Amino acid sequence: MEFSTQTAPGPALDIRPLTAGFGGEIHGVDLAAGVDDATLAALRHALATYGVIFFREQRLTAEQHVAFAERWGRININRFFRAVDDHPEIAEVRKEPDQKINIGGGWHTDHSYDEVPALGSILVARELPSAGGDTLFADMATAYETLSDGLKKTLEGLRAIHSSRHVFGAASGHQAAEVVGDISDRIGNPAAATQDVSHPVVVRHPDSGRKVLYVNPGFTLHFDGWTALESHALLKYLYQHATAPERTIRFSWRNGSVAFWDNRATWHYALNDYHGERRLMHRITLEGVPLS
Ligand code: SIN
Repeated sequence: MEFSTQTAPGPALDIRPLTAGFGGEIHGVDLAAGVDDATLAALRHALATYGVIFFREQRLTAEQHVAFAERWGRININRFFRAVDDHPEIAEVRKEPDQKINIGGGWHTDHSYDEVPALGSILVARELPSAGGDTLFADMATAYETLSDGLKKTLEGLRAIHSSRHVFGAASGHQAAEVVGDISDRIGNPAAATQDVSHPVVVRHPDSGRKVLYVNPGFTLHFDGWTALESHALLKYLYQHATAPERTIRFSWRNGSVAFWDNRATWHYALNDYHGERRLMHRITLEGVPLS
């Protein structure tokens, strides 16, 4: 379903934009109480408009987190992350005080290595460090729209290869002897990291109708039909362009915070600046639709 970003359906939400068009903090919605159809429609519109939406002061149990996610569609059961006990739908994003590597510590968009990439994720803060551990988000619609007409035209004809093998597979750094002890309790199942997939470099967002840049530093290997070496300079330029400060926002977590991002419209980056403290988040990822 494509939305007009001008006319919001359902009840008027109290949305406080973080920037002119990207990132919106929503107040006055109690996710634990469940959302009715009209509120769900308004939230869908907000997600399509802002790319990532945030909630504060929520008190969600694991069951309520699952129930809220199920209102949006099918849950993707993560094949690499450790799941929360008794809740296979919830992936743990955890870093212990004695660990140095965090999950998501680099610009990426989740699941671009899948044939049908996930819609997005709903991340709930469970335990936060005393300071640090913020998450950055980058706006892929504006990243595309602010390119020159010439480069847009070149990109429209291109596809890119995305993979999970170098991140989650047996040959990835995560499996190397020096780091395996640090990460192996959180990420596993390297045999499932088999998929390489080709996606258009520019896709039309299925809900907002905006064109978005759909390559990312985490999972994109190279342009389809180009070598990695040939792809390197242009990808590097696009990554630099996409992460310019005016196209990014920074979300500081507090107890009760929830972030819900759209993978097709955003990248994210979990900052790893809180060594010696625990950070524990619960993530539910939602199935998406084929991209074109
Ligand atoms: C992730 O990449 O899903 C983790 C984001 C975060 O922990 O802030």
